[in-house]
Amino acid sequence: MSTTTTMNINLKIWRQQNKDAKGSIQDYKLGNVSPDMSFLEMLDMLNEELITSGDDPVAFDHDCREGICGMCSLMINGEAHGPQKLTTTCQLHMRSFNDGDTIVIEPFRAKAFPVHKDLMVDRSAFDEIIAAGGFISMNAGNAPDGNAIPIGKENADLSMDAAACIGCGACVASCENASAMLFTSAKISQLALLPQGKAESAERAQAMVNKMDELGFGNCTNAAECEASCPKGINLTNIARMNREYFKAAISK
Ligand code: FES
Repeated sequence: MSTTTTMNINLKIWRQQNKDAKGSIQDYKLGNVSPDMSFLEMLDMLNEELITSGDDPVAFDHDCREGICGMCSLMINGEAHGPQKLTTTCQLHMRSFNDGDTIVIEPFRAKAFPVHKDLMVDRSAFDEIIAAGGFISMNAGNAPDGNAIPIGKENADLSMDAAACIGCGACVASCENASAMLFTSAKISQLALLPQGKAESAERAQAMVNKMDELGFGNCTNAAECEASCPKGINLTNIARMNREYFKAAISK
């Protein structure tokens, strides 16, 4: 924990012009970094200096900067979203580092997440998994009464826990197999646990798992790095639930 008013930081950042270019780590020095800055504000500061000196700013993803959209996605010193547990990159602050530290920043790496530029990766593979079955089919009409379908508290809580997944991709980037099973299982679970999602749960699991495989994500080998790196604390038990739903679909054919 820093005790100085401002810090000097050494940055080693992955720079890559486009998805076909060969990337490399580039060194930067940044002074006057406040411990109260967010990690992304520190990168903003670096980019202002790069732009002022006529250099290309570092491309990185962000949107809400409030830990809810899932856009920020950096490997910081080899850890997805950096050293603080249950924290997205945008919610990480420079007080987690010390004056004089060297920080290595890389994109989330996976075959299914090609690098667009520098630290930005294409995570549209997640959208394809959702499009394969991450919804319920229903006739739209008037909004039903909120209490028309009673749901037990335990399942309601488990479903809400699974729905906390923000789809950032930290689980994929941390997994030695680049598996998307934690993400996919959270999206399957949030629906499978509720009466509204039960009717299609087996077909949904089969369609989403097949799409996940087709897109080049790896399989789960129980390393549990996904759970450890997830900024929203998504639990591994969701993967067990997904596997049960998948096998249900397989034996009902
Ligand atoms: S920018 Fe939205 S979660 Fe980090």
